[in-house]
Amino acid sequence: MSALANEERRIVGFLCNWCSYGGADTAGVARANQPTDLRIIRVPCSGRVNPLFVVKALLNGADGVLVSGCHPRDCHYGSGNFYARRRLEVLKRFLPILGIDPQRFSYTWVSASEGSRWQQVVTRFTEEIHALEPAPRFEDVEPLEKALTLTQEKHRPLGVGKQDWLAKLKEAISDKLADLDCVLGWQQGRDLLHSVPLFIQSADDLQKLRCDATCHNNLVRYLPDFKGRKVGIIVRGCEAKSLVQLLQEGIINREELVIFALPCQGLLDLPLVEEALGRYQKLEGLEITDSALKLRVDGKDVTLATADYLQSRCLSCPNDTPVLADYPIGEFTGESATTAQCPELAFLDSLSLTERLGFWRACLSRCILCHACRNSCPMCVCRDQCIAESREPHWQSAKASVKEKFFFQIIHALHLAGRCTGCGQCQANCPMGIPIFALRAHLNRVISELFDGYQAGLDPKAVPPLLTYAQEEANIQERSWE
Ligand code: FES
Repeated sequence: MSALANEERRIVGFLCNWCSYGGADTAGVARANQPTDLRIIRVPCSGRVNPLFVVKALLNGADGVLVSGCHPRDCHYGSGNFYARRRLEVLKRFLPILGIDPQRFSYTWVSASEGSRWQQVVTRFTEEIHALEPAPRFEDVEPLEKALTLTQEKHRPLGVGKQDWLAKLKEAISDKLADLDCVLGWQQGRDLLHSVPLFIQSADDLQKLRCDATCHNNLVRYLPDFKGRKVGIIVRGCEAKSLVQLLQEGIINREELVIFALPCQGLLDLPLVEEALGRYQKLEGLEITDSALKLRVDGKDVTLATADYLQSRCLSCPNDTPVLADYPIGEFTGESATTAQCPELAFLDSLSLTERLGFWRACLSRCILCHACRNSCPMCVCRDQCIAESREPHWQSAKASVKEKFFFQIIHALHLAGRCTGCGQCQANCPMGIPIFALRAHLNRVISELFDGYQAGLDPKAVPPLLTYAQEEANIQERSWE
């Protein structure tokens, strides 16, 4: 029987076996009066609670989720709850960008002897959930077909089209090529507007090298495949941060790398350019300057304003100087430590929670599950072991429903918490133009707020914040439940 208004809500509780489960038992043995809405799942330790457990419960109809473990310093495995505290706080601050009310999730600590505290916690939390409306079912949310209105903030002249350093770059690569297995660069793809990765092993390959605003692949994505071999790589500001992050995680070795660093000129938003050109047979000419894109398409000249066709994140990115370089080539502004503003995130911030849920429902209905976002991400290093495809554990159903697609994006974003370097490959490679980078950008913002301005990829010696803990967390205020 529900103790509240004869109306039961679906509340899921993940309780650590050693303390909170014992605390709930103590309350039961003492016949303490408590609401009955909570369904308890016993876990070995609060550190076992993957934030995805919580999101999955909330997306599948839970009205609230409560996680409870041993008090800090009482964890039976030493530090499980310290790690859990960081992860769960990040999750609580992540939920609003998905359109989920963060009041639907809470975490706390209850020991086995604290039957009365357990009674207090479960009663307060249940009352709070009852004070909210029943959770909206994702399937029933009205899709919000609202065009993105983006406010761009231009931080620096991008210098699109400048190529005066190309000869110097080729010379530097040529000097080192004999000592390297290969050098990772770019070459022309199916036409002048498209570039693909180039693995330079000879002087002939070097002639094909291209470095301009069409070269949007983050080459760092290929580095783990070259571990154990000496290779060179060309990087720009945000790509160098991806490289540093892989070094931090021990996935690549610094002594096996030669880094050729370029100033970033900004990258073209190719789907936008293609949309402007319409269907074409032949692209006979392309000239890129800071002000104009001059194209010759099917015998006709077309001129577009460059600023209207750049990737949105490039326009506001002040981050042109690579944090790590063996051969810096070109002129740098010296700004490397600031995170780019994400205009899509500013747009989402302006929406209500229900509108955000509707926005994701509308956007992700376009997703074709090609996984290009994941496959192009330099931080997605699980490759064939990705849990989105695993059958054991079975996180994701094979259904192509919008909810499953949304959950896939949440899996990807949460795996990047504290690791995303903001290169924007996920969004740039999405053939359906879904603004998924906003989820990663929001998590980056949360991580920065919680961990003293931490940004992934700036310091090869730093420990990512979710891989460590502090016994006293300066920026995490825990609830007292008083
Ligand atoms: Fe209870 Fe780790 S054993 S939180």
